[in-house]
Amino acid sequence: MPRDLTQGEVLRELEPVAETCVNRHLAMAKDWNPHDYVPWDRGRNFAMLGGIDWDPGQSTLSAVGKAAMITNLLTEDNLPSYHREIAQNFSRDGAWGTWVGRWTAEEMRHSTVIRDYLVVTRGVDPVALEQARMVHMTGGFSSGVDAAGVADGAGFLHSVAYVSFQELATRVSHRNTSRVCEDPIADRMLQRIAADENLHMIFYRTVCGAALDLAPDQAIEAIDTIVENFRMPGAGMPDFRRNGVLMAKYGVYDLRQHLEDVLWPVLRQWNIFERTDFGARGEAVRERLAAFLEDMERVKVPRFEEQRDRALVRDAARI
Ligand SMILES: [Fe+2]
Ligand SMILES: [Fe+2]
Repeated sequence: MPRDLTQGEVLRELEPVAETCVNRHLAMAKDWNPHDYVPWDRGRNFAMLGGIDWDPGQSTLSAVGKAAMITNLLTEDNLPSYHREIAQNFSRDGAWGTWVGRWTAEEMRHSTVIRDYLVVTRGVDPVALEQARMVHMTGGFSSGVDAAGVADGAGFLHSVAYVSFQELATRVSHRNTSRVCEDPIADRMLQRIAADENLHMIFYRTVCGAALDLAPDQAIEAIDTIVENFRMPGAGMPDFRRNGVLMAKYGVYDLRQHLEDVLWPVLRQWNIFERTDFGARGEAVRERLAAFLEDMERVKVPRFEEQRDRALVRDAARI
């Protein structure tokens, strides 16, 4: 049986793919400026500069709009943690280094523009927002996979599999957030961010697809681990459960969307269930993955939807 590739070997082998993808990304990415998306004429000073501080009556966002905006922003705020994760598992040299730097710089725009929008429009309490950011960033980030005990080479594969799904998940979340905010300015901003997330997803998905071609059994193991343990990057932030429940209840990000709009499109793109290049080890993992997805489809998603529908009926009866 051939031995597993080391992380260094995987990175070396895939560098030409990374280079092609970076060049394609740079050709397709649109340069944009966060300040263009913020309605500055709706802003005014806070008390420290002679104005008035935030109060809930100033916000035009619904409860779910607030929950979704806060969750998306705190997720974007945690960029230093994701950068650390990616920079540790990718390389600083050549195309890898170019990508990590460029991706980080693009991601930074997302938190900049959402925070400016929320503070200027007084959409959420800026003090509570800042406190939540402090807690969330101090806590850092975990993809849900325990880095200890994973095989050599798995760090990169786990990272690239995780971000393939996670970039698409954030795209879905931003797009659906724009729907619940009911503000054309927020809509334009969030569509702009979602377009970036899509290009990021394409980079990672392509690299992870090349990893599957290079080391099929190793890569499917990493993919299965990520799918079965997937946690949104917001897991662990203050009020994540409460906000996550609200977002799921109103279709910003729920289990069916996770399965149908995030997991399946990426898995299909990789031809996971049509491939013929797995060894016995990869085949066994693929079967486990298939069983997991089937359980989600037949048991977990319907159970979630029944609970959600009952909760919506209860809410309607209360009004
Ligand atoms: Fe982002
Ligand atoms: Fe992104």
